[in-house]
Amino acid sequence: MRNINVALVGAGAIAETHLVNLSSSSQVKITSIVDIDLERAKQISANNNIKHYFTDINEMTSNVKVDAVIICTPNQTHIPIAKIAADQGIHVFMEKPIGTNLKEVQEYLKLAETKNVITMIGMTHRFRSDAAILKEYADRNAFGNIYYAKAKLFRRRGTPKGWFTNKALSGGGAMMDIGVHVLDLAWWLLGKPKVDSITGHTLTGLGKYDTKQVSSWESKNKRLNANDLFDVEDFGAAWIRFKNKTVLSLEVAWAMNGEQDDGISIEILGDKGGAALAPLTLFREEEGTLVKSNPLVEKNNPFQSEIDHFIECIQTGAPPSVDGEQGYQVLKMLQAIYQSSEEKREIHFY
Ligand SMILES: NC(=O)c1ccc[n+]([C@@H]2O[C@H](COP(=O)([O-])OP(=O)(O)OC[C@H]3O[C@@H](n4cnc5c(N)ncnc54)[C@H](O)[C@@H]3O)[C@@H](O)[C@H]2O)c1
Repeated sequence: MRNINVALVGAGAIAETHLVNLSSSSQVKITSIVDIDLERAKQISANNNIKHYFTDINEMTSNVKVDAVIICTPNQTHIPIAKIAADQGIHVFMEKPIGTNLKEVQEYLKLAETKNVITMIGMTHRFRSDAAILKEYADRNAFGNIYYAKAKLFRRRGTPKGWFTNKALSGGGAMMDIGVHVLDLAWWLLGKPKVDSITGHTLTGLGKYDTKQVSSWESKNKRLNANDLFDVEDFGAAWIRFKNKTVLSLEVAWAMNGEQDDGISIEILGDKGGAALAPLTLFREEEGTLVKSNPLVEKNNPFQSEIDHFIECIQTGAPPSVDGEQGYQVLKMLQAIYQSSEEKREIHFY
C-alpha cells in the first residue's frame, strides 16, 4: 500500500489524539500542521517532528502536496476548509459535526463528488468494538421489528469551555457537540432509517456555572472565545419518528442536576429481542424464559480505528463507512430539532 501524506488542520485538543493515532501508522506521514495560532502550529510541529507549519490552509496547499487533510477546527470552519481542500483534490476527514449550515454542506458535497474526493466524518462511537457487535446483532435482525429506541447522554457538569458556547463558531450547544454523536450512533444502529418527523426542545438550563472540583473539555485556543460568549443550549431532547415507524427518543445535557452518565446510553426495543449499551446487554426470550446476557467485548481505541479506516479508504478507493452524505443527514436532523424547538411545532420531512 502506498504511503499517505497528511496535513492536520486545527492543532487543538482533539488533534492531539489524532496526532498520536496518525503517527502510529507506518503508512502515514504527517507533513504539515495548520493552525491560526502560529505559536501552537510551530510548537506542535516541532514536538512531533513535522516539517511544515502554516496559519492558513491556502498557504499549505500552495506549498506542500498532501493526499489528505484531517480537519479539527471549530464546527463552523469545517466546510470552508474542506472546500479549499476538495478543490485541490485532497481527501477530507473532518471532525463532527460535518458543518453548521446545510446549504454550505450540500455545496461542499457536490464539489467533493466532482473532484473525486473522499469525505469521512469523525463519528468515533461507531468504531467502538461494543457498538460494532451490537450493530452486527441488529443487522442480523436479532431484535425483530425495532419499534422504539432511546439514546441519552447526561453530564452533570461537563460544559466545554471556549468557542463551543459561541453559536457563531459552534452552530449550537449540547445537541451540536455531543447530541451529534448520540444521534448518529442510534441512527446507525437502527439502520439509518429515513425521517418522517421531528419534535425537539432545546434550552439553556444552567448556562455558566461556578461549580468547584469539576473539570471539562476546553478549547486549546482561548482567544477564539475572548468575549466568553454563551448563546447556545446546554440541554436538548427530541422525538424522531422514522418512516419505518420506529421512534427514537434523544436526550442530551452538558450540565444538569441529575445522575451523570458515564457515556452514551442506548436502549433498543424490538419484538424479538432488545439491547442496551453500555455495557452491551442483550435481552431475549428463549423457550419461554427471559434471558439477559452480556457479550464479552475487548475494548479498542475507536479513534485509532476511525483514522485507520480513513487511510485504508484512500489507499483502496473504498467509500468510507461514515461518509459526507450521512454527516449531512445527521446535521439535517439536528437542525430540525432546533427549528422545532424555536417554532414549537413538529417538523415534517418530505
Ligand atoms: N470525535 C470526538 O469525539 C471529538 C472530541 C472533541 C472534539 N471534536 C471536534 O473536533 C473539533 C475541534 O475541537 P477541539 O476540542 O479540538 O477544539 P480546540 O479549540 O481545542 O481546537 C481547535 C483548533 O483549531 C484552530 N483553528 C480555529 N480556526 C481555524 C482555522 N480557520 N484554520 C486553522 N486552524 C483553526 C484553533 O486555533 C485551535 O487550535 C470540533 O469540531 C469538535 O466538535 C470531536
